[in-house]
Amino acid sequence: MLVDGAGRLPPVEVGAGTRAFVTGASSGIGRAVARQLALRGARVGLAARSAAELEALAAELPGDGHLPLPCDVAERAQVEAAVARFTAEAGGLDLVVANAGVAFYGPFRELAPERVEQMTAVNWLGTVWTVRAALEPMVAAGRGHVVVVSSGAGQRSFPDAAVYGATKAAQRAFGEALWHELDGTGVGLTLLYPGEVATRLHDHEKGRMPVWYHGGDRAADPDALAEALLAAVAADRRAVAFPRIVGLLGVVHGLSPRLADAVLRRLRGPTAAPRRG
Ligand SMILES: NC(=O)c1ccc[n+]([C@@H]2O[C@H](COP(=O)([O-])OP(=O)(O)OC[C@H]3O[C@@H](n4cnc5c(N)ncnc54)[C@H](OP(=O)(O)O)[C@@H]3O)[C@@H](O)[C@H]2O)c1
Repeated sequence: MLVDGAGRLPPVEVGAGTRAFVTGASSGIGRAVARQLALRGARVGLAARSAAELEALAAELPGDGHLPLPCDVAERAQVEAAVARFTAEAGGLDLVVANAGVAFYGPFRELAPERVEQMTAVNWLGTVWTVRAALEPMVAAGRGHVVVVSSGAGQRSFPDAAVYGATKAAQRAFGEALWHELDGTGVGLTLLYPGEVATRLHDHEKGRMPVWYHGGDRAADPDALAEALLAAVAADRRAVAFPRIVGLLGVVHGLSPRLADAVLRRLRGPTAAPRRG
């Protein structure tokens, strides 16, 4: 394989024969990514808890060899077994998408401890266990790519989503360190920061969503997001925000949290940033 002047391998280009493992593949963003991967000829390992949905998806995706891998990403042994099984059956692993996640919104003091634990176990630890298991075969092969699905809320946390935002910021910090640790291994990493995307993430709490949350008609299309993500993987980009304005929010917040608050008040109303001082 050709290397560049710095001795680096070319980025993973998704195409025929690419072996990809996607968590949270039964719905929303994960399902759309799995579809876009299959459309490009990839063989996809489909991980989530809903076995029947994964079976149906594996049968309906274009191409052959897609594997339903029912597992709970919060359970390290289950994720390790799913990654190992897919890697063995596919003969290797080129791409992993750590996407499975859950969201529970509401004022922090009203959030049940069980919800705090679930978001931490699935969004944060689930990402760690997935990436940890997938890095083993990829680093051994000297080639691969990791995608971590964070959120705009991981760049600037929102009121009523304190714990959710914290799990998403944890993913960001994790990925930012790995960019550097993986340098020279042949394995790349892209952080994905979605804004509001039309999925079932908030279906269980539609009546309780905070005023600043728009969702609904204004939410982005998961297939368009999946296409943007795969283009970012092909370019070995460190991060991709979708829609792009989400990335701008992260930049502004990094420079001046107060300025970001002012922008959010303008875009989303006072509930997005009530404190002015
Ligand atoms: N939609 C948005 O507006 C938005 C914005 C920013 C970031 N995100 C992030 O995007 C990711 C995907 O969310 P989505 O919007 O596509 O929501 P979704 O439609 O609800 O999909 C979530 C996926 O995660 C899986 N999942 C949940 N708990 C799991 C567990 N314990 N083990 C394995 N899989 C589990 C679900 O499958 P099962 O229920 O079958 O397990 C489902 O496939 C999440 O990390 C979310 O934080 C979404």
